[in-house]
Amino acid sequence: MTSALMQNYGSKELEFDHGKGSYLYTTEGDQYLDFAMGIAVNSLGHCHPALISALSEQANKLWHTSNLYYITPSEQLAGKLVASTFADRVFFCNSGTEAIECGFKIIRRHFYNKGQVQRNRIISMTGAFHGRSLSAIAAAANPLHCEGFLVGDTGFDQAAFGDLDSLQAMIGPKTAAVILEPVQGEGGITVVDKNYLKAVRDLCDTHGILLMFDEVQCGIARTGNLYAYQLMGVSPDVLATAKGLGGGFPIGACLATEEAASALTPGTHGSTFGGNPLATAVGNAVIDIVNEESFLNNVKDLGNHFKAGLQKLVENHPSLLKQVSGIGLMLGLVCEADAAELIKRLQQEKLLVVKAGGNSIRLLPALNVSREEIDSATQIINAVLQGWEK
Ligand SMILES: Cc1ncc(COP(=O)(O)O)c(C=O)c1O
Repeated sequence: MTSALMQNYGSKELEFDHGKGSYLYTTEGDQYLDFAMGIAVNSLGHCHPALISALSEQANKLWHTSNLYYITPSEQLAGKLVASTFADRVFFCNSGTEAIECGFKIIRRHFYNKGQVQRNRIISMTGAFHGRSLSAIAAAANPLHCEGFLVGDTGFDQAAFGDLDSLQAMIGPKTAAVILEPVQGEGGITVVDKNYLKAVRDLCDTHGILLMFDEVQCGIARTGNLYAYQLMGVSPDVLATAKGLGGGFPIGACLATEEAASALTPGTHGSTFGGNPLATAVGNAVIDIVNEESFLNNVKDLGNHFKAGLQKLVENHPSLLKQVSGIGLMLGLVCEADAAELIKRLQQEKLLVVKAGGNSIRLLPALNVSREEIDSATQIINAVLQGWEK
C-alpha cells in the first residue's frame, strides 16, 4: 500500500474499523482482544457509553474558545485532579510530551525566579521514556531516539534507575530537579522500589531541589490507585499525566504544588488547544468513573488475578518466559524468547499486546476489562507458548 505519511512508524499490517469494550474489529469482521489499548490510552476500553455521551453532548454545545476565556469543564477537571492528588494547580495540554515539557519549564523557571539561575539541570533515570520533543528525548537519553537530533549540552544528567548512590553522586550545585516514572513503561515494566523513592524524596529535600514524576503511562488508575505515587506514599512537586486521562481523546496535564506552579505567571506558558471543552468534558467523565474506590479496588483485584495467571505461564514455560513484572493492570512479561516474535504470534491468534524494552511485552488491558477477558488472554498466551515449544 502506498502512503503519503512520513515513514517514522514503520510498516503497519492491521487496520481496525471499530471497537467495543476490550475488542477491536477489522473491516472483514475479525475480532481482536485488545490488551494494548492504544498503549494505555483507552482506559475504559473502546466506545464507552459515558465517554460517548460526554463528548457528543459537548460537541453539540461548544468545541473551542481558547484560554482567553473561562472554560467550565476545564475548571471542573482541574478541581477534581487537585482534590484527589498532592497538586494545587493544573495546566492542561494535549499530550504526555507537552505535560513533561511544562514540568521542565516550571522547574527551570522556579529556580530562575529565586535568583538561582545556575540550578538548571535535571537528572533523569536510565531506561526512562518521556516523549519525543527535543527536551523529552534529551531527558531520557535513549541513543536510538536522540541520534542526529541534539546539539550541544542538553541540560540533563542521568542516574541509574533504582540506584541511590548513583543519584547522590550526580546531584550538584547545578541540579534543579529529579524526574522519574514510578512505574517505567517503555523501558520495560519496572515498579520503583518504595524505600528508594522515599530516599529520593529525602535527597531532593536535603538539596532543596524539585521532584517530578512522569505518570503519563502509569497514572489514571492503571496501578489501582489514581496515581502510582499514591501507592508508594511519596509525593512529587510536579507530575505529568496524559494517555488514560482522555480515554482515547487527546489530553495531557501538568500537576504541581502551589510553590512550583507559581513559576508560571501570565505569559510564561500556554497552549492553543490545552484544556479545550471537548477534551476536558471527556476527561471529567473518565475521572468520575475511574476515581471511585470500588473501581480502583477492582483494578487491583483484576491485576492480582492476571498476574497470578501470568506467573503460572512463566513457571510452565521457562524456556520462553523469564518473569512477570508490574502492578495492577500495567503488567510485563520478560521473555527468554524473542519478544517481537511472541507479539507477532499473539497477533496471529488475535491478541494485541505491546513491545517494551528489555526484551519484554506489555499487557495493558482496559481498566474495566472482565475476568473472562483476562482469562482468555492468558489462555491465548499459553496456547501460543505451547505451540512454540513443540
Ligand atoms: C512515561 C511516558 N512519558 C511520556 C510519554 C509521551 O507521551 P505522548 O506520546 O502522549 O507525547 C509517554 C508515551 O508513551 C510515556 O509512556
